[in-house]
Amino acid sequence: MGEFTSLLFCLLITAQLIQIVSALKFGINYGQIANNLPSPTQVVGLLQSLNVNRVKLYDADPKVLSAFSGTNIEFIIAISNENMSAMTDSTHAQAWLSQNVQPYISGTRITCITVGNEVLTGNNTSYKSSLLPAMQSLYQALTNLGLQNQVNVSTAHSLDILANSYPPSSGSFREDLGSYLQPLLNFHSQINSPFLINAYPFFAYKADPNSISLPYVLFESNAGQTDPNTNLNYDNMLYAQIDAVYAAMKAMGHTDITVRVSETGWPSKGDENEIGATVENAAAYNGNLLKRVAMNQGTPLKPDVPLDVHVFALFNEDLKPGPTSERNYGLFYPDGTPVYNIGLQGTGTGYDSGSGTYFTSSSLQSSTSKLMISYGVGILVLVASPTLILLIIIRRTKKKK
Ligand SMILES: *[C@@H]1O[C@H](CO)[C@@H](O)[C@H](O)[C@H]1NC(C)=O
Ligand SMILES: *[C@@H]1O[C@H](CO)[C@@H](O)[C@H](O)[C@H]1NC(C)=O
Ligand SMILES: *[C@@H]1O[C@H](CO)[C@@H](O)[C@H](O)[C@H]1NC(C)=O
Ligand SMILES: *[C@@H]1O[C@H](CO)[C@@H](O)[C@H](O)[C@H]1NC(C)=O
Repeated sequence: MGEFTSLLFCLLITAQLIQIVSALKFGINYGQIANNLPSPTQVVGLLQSLNVNRVKLYDADPKVLSAFSGTNIEFIIAISNENMSAMTDSTHAQAWLSQNVQPYISGTRITCITVGNEVLTGNNTSYKSSLLPAMQSLYQALTNLGLQNQVNVSTAHSLDILANSYPPSSGSFREDLGSYLQPLLNFHSQINSPFLINAYPFFAYKADPNSISLPYVLFESNAGQTDPNTNLNYDNMLYAQIDAVYAAMKAMGHTDITVRVSETGWPSKGDENEIGATVENAAAYNGNLLKRVAMNQGTPLKPDVPLDVHVFALFNEDLKPGPTSERNYGLFYPDGTPVYNIGLQGTGTGYDSGSGTYFTSSSLQSSTSKLMISYGVGILVLVASPTLILLIIIRRTKKKK
């Protein structure tokens, strides 16, 4: 009896520990279109206190890449649309890597480079034609440096590349983009790199708040919608959007490419006509999404492929143009206070909004030592539990004799 209880206890602790140790596939977009953000070194402290281990940039900011050296946080870095066409030249691609990747990669885990953002749905045809050649030339340059297995090459798409997204099984790409997408998909498949989408159920809700169910877009309890072709039930729009992209790729002959969400999010504030842009909805969307990620959930079509998302965004960015919502996607205000609490470890606890404790070196130290203590305990339990189990088994065997 007592033995069974202690055995169970050990197993439970081990299971819990494995859950904690396995990294959350929850990343954050670190946009910097603002004039009031904390320094990259301060941001290191903030992200470590939250246990966030993935970050996406919109450039290759050397200040950020050096500040995060030694942190083990994974980085997606970017080549902007404006700088993309230069990359089609192999000498230039090589030079870009020597300047922006090689100096940092030994200390900072750069795992992906995105070439252009939402290029195919933009208005510049010359960008659209340079996209694939730029990706190819960058991949070749990475290969020359032996980095092709360490760093993926991709590009991020707006969901406007879809002509049809419902039901998910009928997902298809816009016909006018077929001549760009077919060779692009072939390339993704050839180099085994992920297909990245920026997916915002908020846009769908904002455009049609009377017919779209708020619980459905916010991952809250609802009956969901059943795809008549597959009988799969969708209880939220993001999963339906991801699976629509899988269906669209399949229609172009590809079932061998992984879809990842390079951006998703919900604004906490908007203009009067931006229905749904509230703190409550933003907290629900991002908080519920984080829970799904923590559960290692996949979509109905790909239950074994855990969600891989980067939330937009880390901070509210005061210099972003466009409607009010654009400046209010952040999980944090520039001073480091959370806009709302989504249950990320550290959020709302131990934060001194008066002094901005997250950003002081003492808080950085205390979060590092906490981390070290939890790792210490973890290693102890990992070593101790098999030993205990072994002892119990030995005792049992002895008793039987
Ligand atoms: C384009 O590249 C230049 C030179 O590497 C860099 O200084 C600039 O910030 C880049 N532009 C954007 C928009 O990323
Ligand atoms: C293309 O889009 C950019 C940014 O979205 C905008 O500034 C520009 O005016 C557009 N150009 C044309 C020709 O529509
Ligand atoms: C497309 O981008 C190129 C290179 O930046 C620029 O010269 C051209 O004016 C842009 N075209 C449009 C329609 O915006
Ligand atoms: C590159 O993408 C592939 C396909 O999604 C993935 O299996 C691999 O782990 C990625 N590589 C890195 C370094 O993240």
